[in-house]
Amino acid sequence: MKSNILVKSSKTLITVILALFLIVLSIYAAEGDKPMSAEEMRKAAAAKAAALAKPPPGGKWRATAEEALEALKIKGDVEEGEEIYTVCAACHQPTGWGDPLGVFPQLAGQHTTVLIKQISDIRAGNRDNPTMYPFAMQIEGAQDIADVCSYIQTREMNPNPRIGPGGPSWILSNLRKEVWPISLDKIQQDVGNENFKKLKTIEEKEYKSKQEFLEALNNTIGAGELQKHQEVILKNADWETDLNLGKTLFEKNCVRCHGDHGQGNWKEDPPVVEGQPVQADKGKQEPAYYPVLAGQTYLYLIRQFSWIQIGKRRNANPDMVKQIKEFSFLDMKSVVDYAGRFKMQEGDWQEIGGEDEEGWDLGEDEEDDEDIPAHLRD
Ligand code: HEC
Ligand code: HEC
Repeated sequence: MKSNILVKSSKTLITVILALFLIVLSIYAAEGDKPMSAEEMRKAAAAKAAALAKPPPGGKWRATAEEALEALKIKGDVEEGEEIYTVCAACHQPTGWGDPLGVFPQLAGQHTTVLIKQISDIRAGNRDNPTMYPFAMQIEGAQDIADVCSYIQTREMNPNPRIGPGGPSWILSNLRKEVWPISLDKIQQDVGNENFKKLKTIEEKEYKSKQEFLEALNNTIGAGELQKHQEVILKNADWETDLNLGKTLFEKNCVRCHGDHGQGNWKEDPPVVEGQPVQADKGKQEPAYYPVLAGQTYLYLIRQFSWIQIGKRRNANPDMVKQIKEFSFLDMKSVVDYAGRFKMQEGDWQEIGGEDEEGWDLGEDEEDDEDIPAHLRD
């Protein structure tokens, strides 16, 4: 039987996790009452990350293939995986649905191949995730990675994930600060502290019509002040998406890799399309690592999308980076709002836990046809 340090010391561990969880949440909650400057926030985040642990430097689409490849060859044990998942549940929730603000992504229903790659990347410092890094490092090795990822893929997805605004939307919020250089800070600078204090009373409230938003502003700071600052406020509070634009962009730019309903792809690399970037890893003997976007939390999608665009997510697929280089803020919001609204369908996943399930054949034992999973045999 396999021993597991995560389960053995579960009581102390859970206490530690809960404490950390509260710290993480408090960072987000604290934003509300004491506005920090961008520089202060960066410093605080950096200090926290340093205090926790320091991942090694790295950063390439498939730089950490080794551990991932090891885990992919192993048949995951869903029951063992459930035990290991207790350490993940503190942040990603027992359901695996994450949180509605997208701080913690939904994991449930993500393809095992994607989960394995991301965890291996995080462990190797190839994808920055200071919050999760110490926990990711507690996983013992390839077998445990295979187990927990198999378990996660089989979890039912959130039937009502937090979706984007799907149209006009204005909101005074710092949520967007991480994904776009517009924020409450800009508004504060423009309106001054007195006005800003009043504006805080309608923070996080979403307005679906510009008229209503302007009325609310009028009621808080008055017509004269509103007139002076309207332009800056509107620009920094605009959270509108356009689903028609999202559809056009999705079909043209994303379907090839993420599937026609955002189902991702664990099976094979997408075909090369003329006029679009060449597949970075053409000819590799591996399953595919294209994430499910359907049903993922909107604010997580927008954060990842923008981090991929600016190169902050260092393990991103370079072809995707090229493909989305020219996207505007409206393009980004609209396309992920559109993509997140899809539902997964039967047959979108690799079967897990069935009698015939095997790890992936990665081309080393080709003489033994029995070892090759059915979907990879010709
Ligand atoms: C302390 C909180 C915390 C814990 C505990 C935690 N995670 Fe995470 N995890 C996060 C955060 C935050 C992110 C998103 C990081 C980002 O935005 O890039 C994340 C992202 C991920 C991703 C990437 C998802 C994607 O769609 O690319 C995977 C996979 C993942 N976690 C798996 C796990 C597993 C498995 C465990 C348990 C062994 C675990 N996490 C434990 C905080 C945590
Ligand atoms: C050439 C293939 C390719 C194209 C085209 C592409 N993507 Fe991706 N995308 C990927 C891969 C591969 C990943 C995972 C990268 C990694 O391993 O870190 C990814 C990751 C993402 C993520 C992060 C998901 C998560 O769970 O963390 C989002 C969001 C995303 N893509 C959205 C899009 C959208 C929207 C489009 C179209 C505008 C698009 N992508 C086009 C290959 C592609």
